[in-house]
Amino acid sequence: MVSAKMEEALNAQVNKEMYSAYLYMSMSAFAESMGYKGIATWFMVQYHEEMVHAMKIYEYIIRVGKKVVLNTIEQPPSQFDSVQDMFRNALKHEQYITESINNLVDLAISEKDHATKIFLDWYVTEQVEEEESVNDILQKLDLIGENGNALYMLNKEIGARTVNVALDYSRGVENGSQGGA
Ligand code: FEO
Repeated sequence: MVSAKMEEALNAQVNKEMYSAYLYMSMSAFAESMGYKGIATWFMVQYHEEMVHAMKIYEYIIRVGKKVVLNTIEQPPSQFDSVQDMFRNALKHEQYITESINNLVDLAISEKDHATKIFLDWYVTEQVEEEESVNDILQKLDLIGENGNALYMLNKEIGARTVNVALDYSRGVENGSQGGA
């Protein structure tokens, strides 16, 4: 049995994951505006992953007989000082999401809600990966420093990232829709 308190907390997490998607979409747009196509692709792939994170919780709320309540999504920043600044913000955000997931797990444990606890385990593991991937890029950016050529190469390297979800807008809506809309 999922409590009303847990239902509310899960709905709040849907909103946070939707904000994450919105934030990374904004970072993708910023990278596009700077001419970093590869970095823009990386963030657009991240956008899709966040949509999946949101949708998994959305579906779980429905499966356990509770109600999805969508809230206002906060406006993300649209301007960053540099590529480094963008990834630093991304890491900070992922750390915040990790804390939020940990709080949800704590709530599930305190309420003896084993089903939700098991459901949330996937997110605990996923957050390790989320922080790791951003950290990895940040380390490379630190090594690159002001080297424009190296940044160009990194832009190319991380632009190879692809999406594994059913609907892929990372290469444009027309190319990414599987099954049409
Ligand atoms: Fe949904 Fe990037 O955490």
